[in-house]
Amino acid sequence: MSKSTINDRKREHLSLAGRPSMQMSIANGLDTLQFEPCALPELDFDEIDTRCSLVGKELQQPLIIASMSGGTRASRQLNEIFAAAAERAGVALGLGSMRIAIEQPEQCATFQVRSIAPSIPIFANIGGAQLIQPNGIDNALRCIDIAEADGIFVHLNPLQEVLQVQGDTQWRGVLKAIATLVTHAQVPVIVKEVGHGIGPSTAKKLAEIGVRYLDIAGAGGTSWAAIETERSRIDNNAQTGEVFHNFGINLCDSLRLIQQQCNVDESLTLIASGGIRSGLDIAKTIRLGASFASAASPMLAAAQHSETALTELLQQWRRQLQICCFITGSASLSDLRHAPLVKQSLL
Ligand SMILES: Cc1cc2nc3c(=O)[nH]c(=O)nc-3n(C[C@H](O)[C@H](O)[C@H](O)COP(=O)(O)O)c2cc1C
Repeated sequence: MSKSTINDRKREHLSLAGRPSMQMSIANGLDTLQFEPCALPELDFDEIDTRCSLVGKELQQPLIIASMSGGTRASRQLNEIFAAAAERAGVALGLGSMRIAIEQPEQCATFQVRSIAPSIPIFANIGGAQLIQPNGIDNALRCIDIAEADGIFVHLNPLQEVLQVQGDTQWRGVLKAIATLVTHAQVPVIVKEVGHGIGPSTAKKLAEIGVRYLDIAGAGGTSWAAIETERSRIDNNAQTGEVFHNFGINLCDSLRLIQQQCNVDESLTLIASGGIRSGLDIAKTIRLGASFASAASPMLAAAQHSETALTELLQQWRRQLQICCFITGSASLSDLRHAPLVKQSLL
């Protein structure tokens, strides 16, 4: 793809994503879940522990700044802000799609933030459709090296691609290519959606080929159909995508159904995303069986303001998670996993 197309695309994504109209108008389902308040916590708030471990590194809370940025000068600055705030707050960081680093090697530096964030997990990112291109697997392995990453996200975004001008619409062989990457990568491969969700049928196929980490990216947050529809207005082609704005499986349904229908045990780690907007949301996803949560659009809005704003947001979310632990009588994340709900039948 031409340099200007791929660079302009990232610029447009970063600028459009902040508009309220790019959020889905359906909820991610977490609003239906209510913890039973514990009026007798029998806990000292200061001892509440939200730490956990991801790919062998300690986090202060179970949170990943979702993959978003890289490939242009402005997005390098964003990655630097994400990395600095993530390191300070003790959360993990996903880099944006690194296809541009392969096609334009001079852009590699926009993904190289390891020196800013030496102790947290950093994840490379590549599209599933890129894996079936010539040298696709080698390129994905190269992305891990470029970013000195602890793992790699492979994003599955067929709806976005098909609505995108010059999107990748040949998807035969992607599952097999992911299997090959899982075999060859020295670090974990995390398969994610981008906001329309991974349902139980897809999750089963991925688990069967050895994928051990799934990031659901369910419906209820940022709508990539809305973003691509907005971009295609220039070509007067917008009406095609409008009906898909709220398309997908919401975060809650996805979490529940994957656990009911796939053999989720210790070997499959679930990351919950798609409309995560507070520490209370993180708490609810942990209660629903996720090990980590991840968020994109609120992180972007804060980072576009300043590194301090992002650090403060991350600290606020951690405090909200701690408060939720306190008022449900949970001393740790493992206690929170069993906290009683008002309507237990929702699980
Ligand atoms: C500006 C922006 C750029 C994104 N770029 C990527 C990307 O390059 N690769 C990817 O896997 N996901 C990308 N995403 C998707 C997010 O990682 C996330 O899955 C999705 O936005 C849902 O989270 P949210 O509802 O918290 O925004 C991007 C999201 C935003 C907002």
